[in-house]
Amino acid sequence: MCGIVGYVGPKSTVDVLLGGLKRLEYRGYDSAGVSVINHQGQLETRKKAGKLTKLVEDIEKAPLGESNIGIGHTRWATHGAPTDGNAHPHLGGEHQKLSLIHNGIIENFSELKTELLLQGAVFASETDSEAAAHLVAAQYAKTGDLTESFRTVVRRLHGAFTILVVHEDEPGLVLAARRNAPLVIGLGDGENFLGSDVAAFVEHTKRAIAVGQDEIVILKAGSVEIENFNGEKVTHEEFTVDWDASAASKGGWSSFMAKEIADQPQSVGDTLMARVSSDGYVNLEELASISKLIPNIDRIIMVACGTAAYASEVGKYAIEAWAKIPVSVELSHEFRYRQPILTPNTLVVAVSQSGETMDTLMATRYAKEAGASVLSICNTQGATLAREADAVLYTHAGPEVAVASTKAFTAQITAIFLLGLHLATVRGTQPKEDLQVIGKELLKLPGDIADVLTTTDSTRALAKKFKDARTVLFLGRHVGFPIALEGALKLKELAYIHSEGFAAGELKHGPIALIEEGQPVIVIVPSPSDPDSLHAKVVSNIQEVKARGAQVIAIAEQGDAEVSKYAAEVIYVPAIHKMLAPILNVIPLQIFAMELAAAKGLDVDQPRNLAKSVTVE
Ligand code: F6R
Repeated sequence: MCGIVGYVGPKSTVDVLLGGLKRLEYRGYDSAGVSVINHQGQLETRKKAGKLTKLVEDIEKAPLGESNIGIGHTRWATHGAPTDGNAHPHLGGEHQKLSLIHNGIIENFSELKTELLLQGAVFASETDSEAAAHLVAAQYAKTGDLTESFRTVVRRLHGAFTILVVHEDEPGLVLAARRNAPLVIGLGDGENFLGSDVAAFVEHTKRAIAVGQDEIVILKAGSVEIENFNGEKVTHEEFTVDWDASAASKGGWSSFMAKEIADQPQSVGDTLMARVSSDGYVNLEELASISKLIPNIDRIIMVACGTAAYASEVGKYAIEAWAKIPVSVELSHEFRYRQPILTPNTLVVAVSQSGETMDTLMATRYAKEAGASVLSICNTQGATLAREADAVLYTHAGPEVAVASTKAFTAQITAIFLLGLHLATVRGTQPKEDLQVIGKELLKLPGDIADVLTTTDSTRALAKKFKDARTVLFLGRHVGFPIALEGALKLKELAYIHSEGFAAGELKHGPIALIEEGQPVIVIVPSPSDPDSLHAKVVSNIQEVKARGAQVIAIAEQGDAEVSKYAAEVIYVPAIHKMLAPILNVIPLQIFAMELAAAKGLDVDQPRNLAKSVTVE
């Protein structure tokens, strides 16, 4: 968590830093701060608890000096409450000439702090990060070499960190280091940038380099050097960012979430693009590096957290049905602690929007060490997960700024469907023509999503109606089950309402006891044409809860007359292949949660206590 940005170049540094922080605010919004070295060579620092707007207002009232170098931070609090004092940057040294920002957790900070206190350092915050600022300053006081001092200190730090430092004595230099936390360089013309991800600088440059594990960056306006923690030079290939800067702005929408929900025809379409031919044939060139493994895969384990885990759950049904490979889905943070059995024929599929979720990264490192191959499904170019995997299948959802995932979720499901069809094609587990029928159905998705998005009035009205609900239950079967879980998660995180998703078949095994008069229950109804008669079973479930007083809202296929007999409200979505229905069914649930939260006056883009990228375990 936490977003970091660094800049050196001719532009107004405060504007570059605040612009970058705005785009990174999804990573944490407990406080924000910047340090610049002004044209008089003095370090100026400003930091404020609360969202970035507080800092912006403060700077507008009392502007910082003109400058061409600086660092900025937006915080998700770990050590120390979200106060002005605990906000970054932190200053170090007797004359406070050094400024430092940090993303991550310094695990040995208490031992380092004790050592510094004994040496007389005075701490102004309760953070772990401040220890690093004092350490670099103290080392520099001894050696007079800032880069060497920085190198020495980062070698002593344990845990996860991206650290940026500027110092009055070196007014043209930003130093950065990374271990287990993200850092990307933006390459400009006579200017250079640093960011937690490319969103920090995409407005200024699309040329980027992803910094590797345990590496240091020496950033100046006219040069960028990368070295490892031992000071040996390192080179990495540059890549071109394919995100459009305007995609990371609200563009007239009331919130990023509203925009991102509306983006879904495009993001699903972009994820399909060049991967499915017009006759429905799927080919994933990105999987070339694991092509030898594909015929031999005997098991797939998908690792992910939160919404990405629900996308994986949907994918499990599809991959097993099409490619006939056993699939299990594991929460990344549980996976490696139960000593899973992995072999060279196990494919671990790590699904992550950010590609920086620490739990998922650790799960994939564990899998690789145990001899499995890793395919990552990721939305962020240059992310650590993408770089560490044996192969990457990018989702092309564009930047997702709202903390609650929407367009990344549907893009993830789309990518997993493509994976399932590709595996089935290569392994010959289904007649090609049958797979092409599904491939063609995939191509219908952008248009069908657009249709769902044009008929949202009743969903919005329902959200307002249920704004005071204390609890909402969600039911689904088959691929509708993970959608029930996702609908419940969206409502929890956005509207702070207790909500639970259940497999509808589980109802009579316990959860039905929760039903009382007036209880809202949202049911994902399978298509009436479902060959396994799941539709009839779910309609029975609706009757069972209705008989006990539930108010049922059904998400059902257009033309499903049966369901309207029992549900109080029905939200219809277009008919599509049963495996693909989750992508259409989830959209009313996203809108329901967003509108309900908005009706309660809540901030839908930045729900309380959350950060978008969970980069600590
Ligand atoms: C919920 C949400 C989270 C993320 C989870 C994984 O709306 O966004 O549950 O899905 O933290 O994040 P990534 O996909 O970045 O690994």
